[in-house]
Amino acid sequence: MKDKTKMFKIVILSSGKSRGSNFQAIAEYISNNNLNIQISFLVITNPNAPIIKRAERLGIKYYLLNKKNLQKEHLSFEEKLEILLEQHKVNLIVLAGFMRKLSSDFVYKHKKRIINIHPALLPKYGGKGMYGMRVHKAVFDAKDDYSGVSVHYVNAEYDTGKIIKQEKVCIKGLNSPEEIAEKVLKIEHRLYPEVIAELAENIIHYQDGSW
Ligand code: GRF
Repeated sequence: MKDKTKMFKIVILSSGKSRGSNFQAIAEYISNNNLNIQISFLVITNPNAPIIKRAERLGIKYYLLNKKNLQKEHLSFEEKLEILLEQHKVNLIVLAGFMRKLSSDFVYKHKKRIINIHPALLPKYGGKGMYGMRVHKAVFDAKDDYSGVSVHYVNAEYDTGKIIKQEKVCIKGLNSPEEIAEKVLKIEHRLYPEVIAELAENIIHYQDGSW
């Protein structure tokens, strides 16, 4: 039995109608490799998001931080999240399909403790409005030979935080944005859990203070 006091605790943040495939890949990687990492909880913002079914199947607790629930408690999204993070003693905040912008106060307070995954080779194809199939469509339209995956720290701007790890993939000969998305997603499912495991082991860290 794992010593729960020594667990590296993470939270997954998703928003909207999140599909949750990265969330599931992370949970499976942790369990298949018997890692000392625990997904303490999942945050969702939409009660109809498909990710809920995955959380139920995996037995992972989730919190619905939507307008209605937040208003009832007179809290902002970040205030409620802060309470949950404190209660669960979370080490790392993992964004997976989370489209909202976190407040700069929150981001500064948790600097280098929030990471995101982006389905392209940042700094290309990032920024406001660049999410989901829009990213793959832009890459396809530009007729690029390569796309990829970027895992980066989160700062107060979309997709501009320091890149932790990137992986390139050849997309020559692919015939649609959907085909690119499929190839890129497979890499996401491997790369994101690996980065989380390396952060938990303190294998990756930056000394220069930039993020
Ligand atoms: C992924 O493509 C990820 O790169 C992006 O949002 C998508 C989430 O997909 N940030 P899923 O919900 O993990 O299936």
